[in-house]
Amino acid sequence: MVLDLGCGTGNVARTLAPHVRRVVGLDCSARMLDRARLGAPKNCEWVWGDLRQAPKVEGLTLITANYALHHMDREELRTLWRWAQRTLPPGGKLVIGDLFYSVPPDQVEGIDGWLDPTLGEYHSAWALMKELEEHGFQAVLKVLHPVIGTLTAMRL
Ligand SMILES: C[S@@+](CC[C@H](N)C(=O)[O-])C[C@H]1O[C@@H](n2cnc3c(N)ncnc32)[C@H](O)[C@@H]1O
Repeated sequence: MVLDLGCGTGNVARTLAPHVRRVVGLDCSARMLDRARLGAPKNCEWVWGDLRQAPKVEGLTLITANYALHHMDREELRTLWRWAQRTLPPGGKLVIGDLFYSVPPDQVEGIDGWLDPTLGEYHSAWALMKELEEHGFQAVLKVLHPVIGTLTAMRL
């Protein structure tokens, strides 16, 4: 079972659906969910709500969050790590694809106007990785771009 946090129009859920028993896509935007429902596979379920109070999904082994966490502050993220640690079984995974720095922000070129630190709190990928490890995960970072990456965290 998979829970996709901030599923939007359901791209991640649809991609995973043929490979798993069930995917629950959660989003706080009813309009996004209306679009996600259109022609979605039968094993996808769409839930309206706040990812900070995610629903219980029986048999959950994978939590995904694609471009949904970058507006959360550090304390909210730590709460999320604690929830994921309690919710996933050992070996379960939390996979995050998002905007986070893998180099110091002042060393990144070409981000003016689209990843402006004054517009939001963007996080260091390395700091998030360390935090996940402190919360009982083993984390691997894949850098796709100096400010975009995936963090795959396995619950120990
Ligand atoms: C940039 S979109 C990404 C959508 C999708 N994950 C994708 O990759 O196509 C971010 C989504 O997160 C949702 N979102 C943001 N904050 C949320 C929250 N606190 N709870 C649930 N959904 C949230 C937004 O409504 C939006 O659909």
